[in-house]
Amino acid sequence: MATDYESHTYDVIVIGAGGAGLRAAIEAHQRGLRTALVCKSLLGKAHTVMAEGGVAAAMGHVYAEDNWKVHFRDTMRGGKYLNNWRMAQLHAQEAPDRVFELEAWGALFDRTPDGRITQRDFGGHRYARLAHVGDRTGLEMIRTLQQKAVSLDIDVFMECKILQLLSDTDGRVSGAVGYWRPSGEFITFSAKAVVLATGSIGKSWQFTSNSWESTGDGHAMAIWAGADVIEMESVQFHPTGMVWPLSVRGLLVTEGVRGDGGVLRNSEGSRFMFDYVAPMFRAETAETEEEADRWYDDHTDNRRTPDLLPRDEVARAINTEVKAGRGTPHGGVYLDIASRRPAEYIRRRLPSMYHQFMELAGVDITTTAMEVGPTCHYMMGGVRVDGDTEAATVPGLFAAGEVAGGMHGANRLGGNSLSDLLVFGRRAGLGAADYAEARSGVPTLQDAEVETVIARSLEPLGREQGENPYEVHRDLQETMQTLVGIIRKGPELEKALVKLGELSARVDNLSVSGGRAYNPGWNLATDLPAMLTTSTAVAQGALARKESRGGHTREDYPDADPELGKVNFVQHQRDHRGPGQPIDIGPEPIPEMPPELRELLEEGH
Ligand code: FUM
Repeated sequence: MATDYESHTYDVIVIGAGGAGLRAAIEAHQRGLRTALVCKSLLGKAHTVMAEGGVAAAMGHVYAEDNWKVHFRDTMRGGKYLNNWRMAQLHAQEAPDRVFELEAWGALFDRTPDGRITQRDFGGHRYARLAHVGDRTGLEMIRTLQQKAVSLDIDVFMECKILQLLSDTDGRVSGAVGYWRPSGEFITFSAKAVVLATGSIGKSWQFTSNSWESTGDGHAMAIWAGADVIEMESVQFHPTGMVWPLSVRGLLVTEGVRGDGGVLRNSEGSRFMFDYVAPMFRAETAETEEEADRWYDDHTDNRRTPDLLPRDEVARAINTEVKAGRGTPHGGVYLDIASRRPAEYIRRRLPSMYHQFMELAGVDITTTAMEVGPTCHYMMGGVRVDGDTEAATVPGLFAAGEVAGGMHGANRLGGNSLSDLLVFGRRAGLGAADYAEARSGVPTLQDAEVETVIARSLEPLGREQGENPYEVHRDLQETMQTLVGIIRKGPELEKALVKLGELSARVDNLSVSGGRAYNPGWNLATDLPAMLTTSTAVAQGALARKESRGGHTREDYPDADPELGKVNFVQHQRDHRGPGQPIDIGPEPIPEMPPELRELLEEGH
């Protein structure tokens, strides 16, 4: 029997209300298009609020010599050249305007003594480049964008979980179907263009900085719709998550701590990062830490300390220290800002970190070193898009922010995420608006497709005996953490794929009690198909990329392979689409970079 559902028609719907989604919706709305913003949490609660350290933009306020060309080079180097170079170029060129725009809309950034937006150091950036609001930059960004969206009266559907994209009979993406979390009632949207801005996939790992929404919905829905995804093996483990207490393990400890002078030490008190950049030099051979820092400045092209190397390098070094028995009691390393900066400075620059450690761990970071370790933080891989318009490879679909792949290559630099959201959120809104304006007629949804999605989502509620979604989720997280984690090996990845197949079968047999209204068990049951699809894509990509590059480290292939540095691994579902269906994978050459950009990668530019 057909289930009742409410229906809405728009020109553009944006799924996800973090920084990218809000910015996309603002742009499409300002173009005069009927635009809806749909999000599964409350408006203002998206994971972007967790971003702490800042937004990278070459404004040159602290170092006048900074400019987009240096930012482009840093981003490409950080991404180990797997980046979509066009995106890296647009991002570096447009980020400053997006920051100034945010300021004009009311964001209150920290200032230089002469009253301009100040910028802080972050790993892999040649110059201090991150505009910030203490260590609560994401919160200020969301607050500002939300206020703008509300002032424009954009239609918002919050606590509305989208289950699947819908297509026209001619294969164009034409809407989506989902349900209201408070009531469990179903809802469809038909739209001329759909923008995915659904964020990350981190909830498939045990220890993650990601919040509960990061279940890979958009990545999976794009695959099910037949879109290409790229570089799914490129998952970033942020070097510094909390390791203790266990209940908050993985919670982000901002890179801003190191940007503002914090350093990493092992259980012997040694600043081990020096050992990983300069084997001929050990920190203890220098008389003082300042001398060691100065040495590093003089001998490398990075002005700052090795504690601020790109995240993949720092995370691997921490992993090695812990494995070598030089870790802290709870399996991390120490992050020490207490011995390096005055208490007043720490409380002023890092208020969230101060409170986070005080309240969650009982640690006063102005006097005591923090215990930190790698945490699953960011997904570089995602929907393959056109760099200028953010159009996916199926018509009608656009993607921006973390759900889109390409911009960051094999590893993202800190701070490049918030600027990515702004630059490509705006561009996706424009791309979707152009597409919607050019598309004639009203998109028609196919009732049978809607009914199939709804019926499948209801199956766990109708099954008396079956798998518990929480147990399946726990087993998925353990599989991804232990077999598809920071250091990977071929046989373990093969084992992971077998286990993911088994978990996928268990997802087909989920059983949930209770009704549809605010039922977290059922909500999780409807998240799991996407988590399985994205996890499978990550494991497949990790197995295929037989080299180590950026966030992807293969113990059995420890070096970068120059040939693999010329390709992206592309995945999609061909004939049979949907949860549990096979995903094809293969390498495709990265488009040639124009000579004028290639030149910028050389020193001296
Ligand atoms: O460390 C941080 O504050 C995280 C920032 C980022 O991932 O860009």
